[in-house]
Amino acid sequence: MVKKINNNTIKLIKYYNLINYNLIYNNQAINRYKNNTFEIPENKAKNLDKLKNSITNIKNCELKKSATNIVFSDGNPDAKIMLIGEGPGANEDQEGLPFVGRAGTLLDKMLASISLDRKNVYITNVVNYRPPENRRPTEEEISRYLPYLKKHIEIIDPKILVLLGSTAMNAIIGNRVVISKARGQWSEKKIGECKTSVIVTFHPAFLMRQPAQKKMAWIDLKMIRERKSKLKI
Ligand code: URA
Repeated sequence: MVKKINNNTIKLIKYYNLINYNLIYNNQAINRYKNNTFEIPENKAKNLDKLKNSITNIKNCELKKSATNIVFSDGNPDAKIMLIGEGPGANEDQEGLPFVGRAGTLLDKMLASISLDRKNVYITNVVNYRPPENRRPTEEEISRYLPYLKKHIEIIDPKILVLLGSTAMNAIIGNRVVISKARGQWSEKKIGECKTSVIVTFHPAFLMRQPAQKKMAWIDLKMIRERKSKLKI
């Protein structure tokens, strides 16, 4: 008997192929661009430099003692879509760029599934230095870096803000929500002078541990694709 499958199922299969393909063999993130590859307004570049400097000058932060590099950002500072992860891991700490390890490879594939890459998104983390042993940043660390993260969002001024995982969600939306309930919904938020549409989705590292949740992440990705096309960005 021949079983018919609909268009959505075909798209889902394509997405699964896309995000699982090559993951085992290739742990290098694809399509990485350093900030200075992009031509951006002088003011934005200046403000980003200033922000990076202020983060470098943060005092009394334990994370800095064990970290090798600051991990400030990757992608296009003029992008209309900004993504926020939790904090750098070992690969990110070595390279000084966010999402360059296995989670980064999956993130790149998730982005590719909705025709995005690091040329048209901007990526940063809640904390800019690697927490030892990849532990979650503490509340104190999150609070210490939050004003800088908010400033970062204000400078980039994205139309769409994607919070990857519960640390980014808790930092920006608060602690009263759980990710399984909060993901896949739009909310409008004003962060400094930046008015943006916010969506929470699962962190790629979580999706590697819980692949069954990839189907929920695909729903979120499709919502981002739709919003992007509605906003013509
Ligand atoms: N996980 C994150 O949250 N950020 C990174 O940069 C890498 C892994």
